[in-house]
Order: sequence, then structure tokens, then C-alpha cells
Amino acid sequence: MRVLGIETSCDDTGVALYDEDIGLIGHRLASQGPLHAEYGGVVPELASRDHVRALLPLVSDLLLAAGPGRVDGIAYTQGPGLAGALLVGAAFAHGLAYAWGIPAIGIHHLEGHLLAPMLDPDPPSFPFVALLVSGGHTLLMDVEAVGCYRKLGESLDDAAGEAFDKTAQLLGLGYPGGPAIERLAATGRPGRYRFTRPLLERGLDFSFSGLKTQVLMAVRAGLAEPQAHADLAQAFQEAVVDVLTHKAMRALLTAGRSRLVVAGGVSANTALRAALNTAVTKEGGSVHYPRLEFCTDNGAMIAYAGAWRLRGAPHTLGFTARPRWPLEDLYSLP
Ligand code: KG4
Ligand code: ZN
Repeated sequence: MRVLGIETSCDDTGVALYDEDIGLIGHRLASQGPLHAEYGGVVPELASRDHVRALLPLVSDLLLAAGPGRVDGIAYTQGPGLAGALLVGAAFAHGLAYAWGIPAIGIHHLEGHLLAPMLDPDPPSFPFVALLVSGGHTLLMDVEAVGCYRKLGESLDDAAGEAFDKTAQLLGLGYPGGPAIERLAATGRPGRYRFTRPLLERGLDFSFSGLKTQVLMAVRAGLAEPQAHADLAQAFQEAVVDVLTHKAMRALLTAGRSRLVVAGGVSANTALRAALNTAVTKEGGSVHYPRLEFCTDNGAMIAYAGAWRLRGAPHTLGFTARPRWPLEDLYSLP
């Protein structure tokens, strides 16, 4: 089975070719970061239009580089995400699938993220607990197998990535905020600011909106010199990392698992990785991440999930985008 994967749920156009026997043949990404930077967040209509512009050249380039060979199916992100952006990918995938006489299948974006570490030469085995930390979601899931997902906890308000983006905006760092905060925090000195850790000692849910308010208050109180910006970024990142690490450890204990998979854009964060590595190995467990380029949105994770889900999938011409779609609604595979 050789699958063309198409990801257009937000502001990255990702395409990839995955072969079950050979592995990942190639992938391409067009990031819209600069397009949205001046707005401090993704503008949905601009995102949809840019996916339209980017898709065809990316796919042609990918297939030309891969050389001649059949494609057995097309997997595209069906949701959750921005409705217009999702529809661009879905229409493109179904048009191509119809022309080539092959099936197209809609993939859950978060299933793509949580299977991304499987593209590694040394993938984690099931079962595991997954910490999904992206711009739109912060979720803890117990994962028995592909399609068997049980939610353990989630953010009651902002997602972790969203908190990074909003803090970056308050500090005038542009979008996306995560990598910029991480760079700035590296030069920050601990101890100058101290932010609270909401819900730290309670359950498996998260809350990040209060943190954003605390950052806002600190900014309003005045950040005199550049070092104050760095110290604030450090304190903010430390608070997020602390909460994510605590909850991930509690989730492993609650679910009785020893393996932790961390995926989504925020899983690229070095401070988060360091804290999780220390905490999980101390308890005798193991922690797995996608390779860095597959932490944020990409086509490879969608092609990979598609290879699982295309087996025996019905060939249909109809499609819908699902901007809201609980991960637990997915059917498990035989
Ligand atoms: O998974 P992703 O690419 O898109 C969604 O599905 O949302 O995640 C994007 C999010 C953004 O909020 C971005 O600021 C954050 O991931 N992010 C990071 C880092 N790289 C990306 N957050 C913290 N540290 C990073 N290095
Ligand atoms: Zn994502």
C-alpha cells in the first residue's frame, strides 16, 4: 500500500508519500507562518487561499522526486481544524482520487499526530499514554491500539500551544509563538517571575488561560529591559512544562502504563522534552517523540495513518470536513 497524504487543517500545507514496505518515500511542507505573522494568529480565509496555491506544486514536486510508481490511495485531514482549510484538502484529495480511480479517506488530525512517532526506525509499541500538545488541543489519551482511544484529560480552556502563541504576541514576538518563546526563554534567568500552576494537584485536566492573564499583568506592570522579557518567557515556559510533566506522570500512573508518547507542535520544545525525559525515566518508563519536523503539522503523519485506515475502506465520492471531531469517535481497526 502506497499512500499520498495531504494535510491542510490549519496553516501548513503538508504532503507526503508513504509506502508500507519501504517507509516514508518523501514529504514536502509549505508553511504559512509569515502570511499570518502580522495578525498574531492564523487568519482562516488567508489560510484556505494559500492551501489552494500550494497544494498542486507540492504534490507534483513530491511525485516527480519519487519517480514512477503507483499510488494506491489518498489520505487527507478531514478534521478537526479550520473548515475552509479542511475543505481545500478534502476537495483536492477527492478530485485526484477520482481521476486516478483510487480510494480517498479522511483522517483525524490528532490520530495523525499521535501516530507520528511510529514513523521512527524504533517506534513505541502499544499500549501507551499519549500527551497531545498542539495549537488547538491539549489532551491526554490512553491508547490501546490504532483507533482505541480513551480520553484521560484535556484543557478546559486554552491549548498549551495557544498559550505559547498568546504570550509571544504579548511580548511582540509574532506567530507562531512557541519556537520564539523557547529561544527567548533560553536566555532567561529563573526566579524573577513566578506564575501559578493551575489544577496542578487535581485530576488530569488542564487550564492555561489564567497563565495568559498573569503574563498580561506582568507586561502591563512594565518590562523595563530586554532581560525582563527573557526572564518572563523563562517563567512562563517553566510553568507550562511543569504542569504538562506533572499531568503526564499522573496519567501514566492512572492508566497503569509505562510508555509515554508526546506529539503535536509543543512536543518540539526542548525544555519540555528534558523535563519529561527526566521524570519518566526516573519511574522506569520510556518516552517517545516524533522526529522534530513531524512534531508540527505535516503530511507524513496523515499518509501513515492513511495506510492503516485505507485497508478495506469503502471507495466513496462524498466528503465532508469535520471542524469539530472528538478523537474517541474513531472506530477501532480489526
Ligand atoms: O501541531 P501543530 O503544528 O498545529 C496544530 O495542530 O495546532 O502545533 C502548532 C503549535 C503552535 O501553537 C506553536 O506555537 C507550537 O505548536 N509550537 C511550540 C514549539 N514549536 C511549535 N511550542 C513550544 N515550543 C516549540 N518549540
Ligand atoms: Zn496539528
